Amino acid sequence: MKTLEILTPEDKQGIDLPRLLEDEQNALGKKKLYIESYGCQMNFSDSEIVASIMREKGFATTSSIDEADLVLLNTCAIRDNAEQKVRNRLSTFTSLKRRKPDTMIGVLGCMAERLKAKLLEEEKVVDMVVGPDAYRDLPRLLDEVETGQKAVNVFLSKEETYADIAPVRLNSNGVTAFISIMRGCDNMCSFCVVPFTRGRERSRDAYSVVQEARDLFAQGYREVTLLGQNVDSYKWASEDGTEQVNFAGLLEKVALVSPELRVRFSTSHPKDITDEVLYTMKKYDNVCNYIHLPAQSGNSRVLKLMNRTYDREWYMNRVDAIRRILGNDCGISQDMIAGFCTETEEEHRDTLTLMDYVKYDYGYMFAYSERPGTPAAKKLVDDIPEDVKKRRLNEIIALQQQHSLERNQQAIGKVHKVLVEGTSKRSAEHLQGRNDQNKVVVFPKHNFTKGQYVNVLVTDCTAATLLGEPVL
Ligand code: SAH
Ligand code: SF4
Ligand code: F3S
Repeated sequence: MKTLEILTPEDKQGIDLPRLLEDEQNALGKKKLYIESYGCQMNFSDSEIVASIMREKGFATTSSIDEADLVLLNTCAIRDNAEQKVRNRLSTFTSLKRRKPDTMIGVLGCMAERLKAKLLEEEKVVDMVVGPDAYRDLPRLLDEVETGQKAVNVFLSKEETYADIAPVRLNSNGVTAFISIMRGCDNMCSFCVVPFTRGRERSRDAYSVVQEARDLFAQGYREVTLLGQNVDSYKWASEDGTEQVNFAGLLEKVALVSPELRVRFSTSHPKDITDEVLYTMKKYDNVCNYIHLPAQSGNSRVLKLMNRTYDREWYMNRVDAIRRILGNDCGISQDMIAGFCTETEEEHRDTLTLMDYVKYDYGYMFAYSERPGTPAAKKLVDDIPEDVKKRRLNEIIALQQQHSLERNQQAIGKVHKVLVEGTSKRSAEHLQGRNDQNKVVVFPKHNFTKGQYVNVLVTDCTAATLLGEPVL
């Protein structure tokens, strides 16, 4: 939170100063919010909206839980272990409450939405449960908690996009930022809890997205990632219906903000990613050559059971289109689920051969975890033993390691344009950033700084990182 002394002349322009001073004074040092985020990038992005709403209510953020008046956990429900992690964290708050009984504890996000008021019964330490579409109601809910009651709002909305809320960037490196372009999901993949925790799909006003990208660029940011569960089904129309923007159109608008602003996006759904999107990526140098294209399985029968609405051939055809339009250099990453209901050994091997076909640069791999209430939980039997799931998962991970290394080796001997994000985690003498394909590149510092683009000749690699020397 700003102190009065560092209010700049720009801050004062056009503002009712006495009122501002009063607001600042009310906010100053009085109340502190500590927020912890779990799960996907969308949740991290939502936490920034929550911080903005709470700032209006007079809360400054803090990174020290001990000085917090309000502790919020923004939770994930995607797999059972994601929920266990949150429960373990909540169990550590009993002693926090004992030491500081006035600390208010709220659970936000997907686990809040899934469990609703039940969470208050199960976790006595929790004062407030708030679903992903109810964050505007946080100030009111907090008033309720302050009067000693427990508070819940888990209503899902068909319209809420928080388009007008300027996120407070948390844990930011000042170079890269997320922009949510849509919320919810209408896909109903049979294993997935997201449609139940995030509600119906809705797209945010295209111009508010572009404005947010412009503001970030003006503040020195050099990369934005457009976020949605299924960005390719982005669809927005102006109120009078004269303008319609699809994802390719939005990508173009954001790319035009500045050639110096890198644009990434996640997640693409194989059923929806169009050639138009691929051609837009090709047209603009600043739209990064990287696509996260979750497959979930390489077998058509399993994909059908998962209700992914594409089969192995369709998926391969989309990969062929990426290679044809964007070339072999385009980075591709996957999500895979091992041991989905009734998956045979042969069907599991289809996942491995699909991986051999694509040669993914990177992957996020999981053992199937049944989620209560999902179509798979209702209609299918979770019949693959845990040890078999684990073994299949390990095979998938080992193969991905091999492919990541192979793909990284192909980068050796070439010059890569790297956007510097900060000092390397391992050495203060090195900087780290990412190339166009989203690969982490580490190189000696020289006089370069964060936010700069540096051409780096890659000379060596591991499965996770490229190493190189700047070419001056
Ligand atoms: N919207 C994205 C993914 C969101 S969830 C998409 O459609 O690809 C992120 C990943 O978690 C999924 O891609 C899937 O691989 C994994 N996942 C989702 N539900 C799961 C479950 N019940 N068990 C194991 N993994 C799951
Ligand atoms: Fe879940 Fe499927 Fe929607 Fe992704 S597309 S969030 S996996 S239902
Ligand atoms: Fe988890 Fe919700 Fe994201 S379930 S993966 S936080 S949409």
